[in-house]
Amino acid sequence: MSQTIQKENTAFFDAWAKSYDCFLFQFWMKHFHQGVLKVLDFSKPFTLLDVSCGTGELLNTIAKKSPKCKLSGMDFSQEMISRAQRKNKNIYFQQGDVHKLSFKDNTFDYVISTTAFHHYHDQQKAMQEMTRVAKKGGSIIVSDIHFLLRLFNFLNEKLEPGCVHVNSGKEMKSLFEKVGLINIQQKRNFMFSMITLGIKN
Ligand SMILES: C[S@@+](CC[C@H](N)C(=O)[O-])C[C@H]1O[C@@H](n2cnc3c(N)ncnc32)[C@H](O)[C@@H]1O
Repeated sequence: MSQTIQKENTAFFDAWAKSYDCFLFQFWMKHFHQGVLKVLDFSKPFTLLDVSCGTGELLNTIAKKSPKCKLSGMDFSQEMISRAQRKNKNIYFQQGDVHKLSFKDNTFDYVISTTAFHHYHDQQKAMQEMTRVAKKGGSIIVSDIHFLLRLFNFLNEKLEPGCVHVNSGKEMKSLFEKVGLINIQQKRNFMFSMITLGIKN
């Protein structure tokens, strides 16, 4: 099951990488990024890992806003990562799997995932890994698709290649609670997205 999902995701995102930076896609993706940008504290430099960074657009925006931040990005798709690497040489990028991150425990002030969580075949394990590499007191932020109409969430699961599960707000909160995150907050980002954040204790 997990291998089938990873294969679907690799084929889908390697192919999509070629046109991922086109204006229309990025116009859509920026809506998911806005919610994350609003909750980052830009008053001081921070360390941040984007666990499914795609072509690194959100990381580039963060780097422009706060050049002293130490930013890292990883993604399962080598095509996405190659494009991200070409765009910003000051950000550390690596190909990898969110289910087994190669970073050390307690490394980042922020660990984020945008528009990707519904593609993870073991969402509990992914949350554990994201939490493991966050510092104590650091934040985990997940911005993912969540349509107002449940029918669309169902259709997305059926139609989007590599889509595993679109979580309800309650399910996402429960995943955050199970890994011991505290001060969990959740808000709708725009009509098609929900953002959930929690602090590592
Ligand atoms: C829709 S894209 C979002 C990219 C970027 N976060 C953005 O907001 O534009 C979803 C990304 O999740 C990545 N992904 C899927 N499964 C993954 C996994 N197991 N580990 C890491 N990344 C994964 C895909 O390769 C793809 O680049």
